[in-house]
Amino acid sequence: MAKRKGSAKPIGTRTAASTRAPRAPAHAAWPHQHLLALQGLDTAEMRTLLARARHHERGDQNASAPLAGRVVANLFFEDSTRTRLSFSLAAKRLGAQVVDLSSGDSSVNKGETIRDTAANVAAMGAHALIVRHRASGAAALVARATGAAFGISVINAGDGRHEHPTQGLLDAYTIAERFDRLADFDLSGLRIAIVGDVGSSRVARSDIAVLTALGARVVCVGPPALVPSSLTTLGCEVCHDLDSLIASADAVNVLRIQFERHAAAGGTGGTGGKALAESGGQRVGGAALARPNAVASLREYTEVYGLSLRRIERMKPGAIILHPGPINRGVEMTAAVADGHRSVVLKQVGHGVAVRMAALELCLAAPRS
Ligand code: CP
Repeated sequence: MAKRKGSAKPIGTRTAASTRAPRAPAHAAWPHQHLLALQGLDTAEMRTLLARARHHERGDQNASAPLAGRVVANLFFEDSTRTRLSFSLAAKRLGAQVVDLSSGDSSVNKGETIRDTAANVAAMGAHALIVRHRASGAAALVARATGAAFGISVINAGDGRHEHPTQGLLDAYTIAERFDRLADFDLSGLRIAIVGDVGSSRVARSDIAVLTALGARVVCVGPPALVPSSLTTLGCEVCHDLDSLIASADAVNVLRIQFERHAAAGGTGGTGGKALAESGGQRVGGAALARPNAVASLREYTEVYGLSLRRIERMKPGAIILHPGPINRGVEMTAAVADGHRSVVLKQVGHGVAVRMAALELCLAAPRS
């Protein structure tokens, strides 16, 4: 993967093309039947996906329906609003038929494995499976079980703490749009902070992969227990002091604390929502949240790492705030910040449809392995 280090520049400043290191071709043919992760993709392949998303975003699609006669099956074994609906919309816009299965009302509840579930849906004639699961590696498992046997494409819609590739792509797209980089998706010179529970975040792993590949400088920010120094192996920097860098960031991507993943890891949050009421946990946005052992108190976390109007006053004039959703208003950011002029949260959601159209179209058109 061709990676270039970006340097901190004033917002929107481009490195002169003549001084840049040569890079991989802007676009490459898309050879992948599946989209399971961004780590490991060539930068040119990421640009191919993003450019195809731009094509759809601009409405360049003619009246044809390239996926007419194809069936896309959503297999969501974990909750979702944005990803699931936008994959459905994307598939329908391309002319595909969409079927939905969620763990809550499926035979998974009778003990059927994800592998058997996927094989059964494939046997019914699905051409693509969109898989979300709490276990890292679940989408890859489904790809192995169905890819060769049924010629099916599998797209990872978020697997545990591993990756959420289409979220990473839509985040990159949103940043590129705001900084006028849609022509080449070159994010050189931009400094992007990812703030919060990075260690638990599949979004962060996909973001780091795509943003660094496109030339941005990525800094992960949060308390040491949520942002371990080992993250630097992914090509990002690590910082524990948000206030020291907020004035130099071009974009701040704020993550939710993944209480459910702390629970899975056996932290004090392992009691989950049910026992929380008994343990005095906080209730945010109608959902009971366990207090993970990685954070001494939610109030203290919000004080040090939450985005308030006061804290973001020091951001650069054109700097933006992203959040993959769902937002816990009052924890990682205030409602005023979430709805404020720097927030591009709903732009992200909108771009998700075009990115997922690109992923579906390219994967289904790729050679079968
Ligand atoms: N960003 C994201 O994955 O949101 P959902 O969980 O609602 O799909």
